[in-house]
Amino acid sequence: MKKIDRLVCVEDFAQEAKQVLAKNAKDYFTSGADDEITVVQNTEAFSRLLIRPRVLRDVSVRNLSTMILGKSVKVPLGVSPSAFQGLAHSDGECGSAKAVEAIGGIFILSVFATKSYEEIAAAAPNVRRWFQFYMHKDRQVKEKAAQKAGFEAIVLTLDAQSVGNRRSSRRDPLEFPSHLKSLPNATPDAAQKELKIFELHDIMDHGVTWEAVSWLKSISNLPLVVKGIQTVEDAIIAVSHGVDAIFVSNHGGRQVDTAVPTCDILPEIVRTVKGKCEIYVDGGVRRGTDIFKALALGANMVFVGRPIVYGLAVGGTVGATKVMHILRDELDLTMALSGVSNVSELTPSYVNRVPGHSHL
Ligand SMILES: Cc1cc2nc3c(=O)[nH]c(=O)nc-3n(C[C@H](O)[C@H](O)[C@H](O)COP(=O)(O)O)c2cc1C
Repeated sequence: MKKIDRLVCVEDFAQEAKQVLAKNAKDYFTSGADDEITVVQNTEAFSRLLIRPRVLRDVSVRNLSTMILGKSVKVPLGVSPSAFQGLAHSDGECGSAKAVEAIGGIFILSVFATKSYEEIAAAAPNVRRWFQFYMHKDRQVKEKAAQKAGFEAIVLTLDAQSVGNRRSSRRDPLEFPSHLKSLPNATPDAAQKELKIFELHDIMDHGVTWEAVSWLKSISNLPLVVKGIQTVEDAIIAVSHGVDAIFVSNHGGRQVDTAVPTCDILPEIVRTVKGKCEIYVDGGVRRGTDIFKALALGANMVFVGRPIVYGLAVGGTVGATKVMHILRDELDLTMALSGVSNVSELTPSYVNRVPGHSHL
């Protein structure tokens, strides 16, 4: 049996990836802010949420497909934008995009990707793809190039106008091999600063406000997703700005340590938004049961960040694709075992909290 055949869950890939990655790449991908409490709690919050399986229902045919921003996906599972995937494997973001194409989800490309929009389009022509960026002082967006390469929505990340305090990367700063010293989708200034990660501070617009969201809507006709919403208050403001989707995220615990785990804030945001726009979530999703729970709590789509990087590190495109298949298959099996034949049937009645921990 090949080594990769023995890896049967995301955690197996995480352990193996930590063996094969160079130390500072491993630190970059795995670390979180400060004491990494939110990194741990994002995952633990899913474990505290328990499933209420139903029995004796016909689940012989399962339908995982749904509509996202007006078009279908085969499964409500996608890949969050994460920078520098070329550090994990030379396939980089092309490998991740192909992995998502294989399951029919949605792939989000980071502005700090090591592959260009055009390379992604060539590698995975049929993947549904969105592009992410931050609000930099120069406000230059390579939006037209992205649109031309088939990217169909903008993801504006709001929770990282300063870089979080990742201790391991401060002790051993990330070093880029010479072949990765270009970031094709960032403006030259941004690319140069991001490559010296902690200078990124200089190019970010620290005074940015919701006006930027209005500005973005005025210059682009693409759907707009705002990523990094962590409170009901901001969800209400986002809706009032006419965004197409709210992406509940704490950046995988890399920004504010002790920020509330995303699966804990999701229910109240869903209740408040009342279907006025779509809602996505990421942070700590490592199992099909986690995806099942997030969908039951009202997320339209669930995303993973680090898992795809672990897949890439272990086996390039093959490893990344296996990770996505594992998650998809685990979701499918959880549905079968819980009496759910269509993702649209998932409601909060399928989940419960451990007594004393929280409430729905
Ligand atoms: C190594 C790494 C790089 C990231 N880079 C970006 C980025 O460029 N843009 C962005 O919006 N989020 C970025 N994120 C946050 C992810 O999009 C996502 O919110 C987070 O990884 C989800 O948590 P998870 O890793 O526990 O699944 C990054 C996360 C990691 C781990």
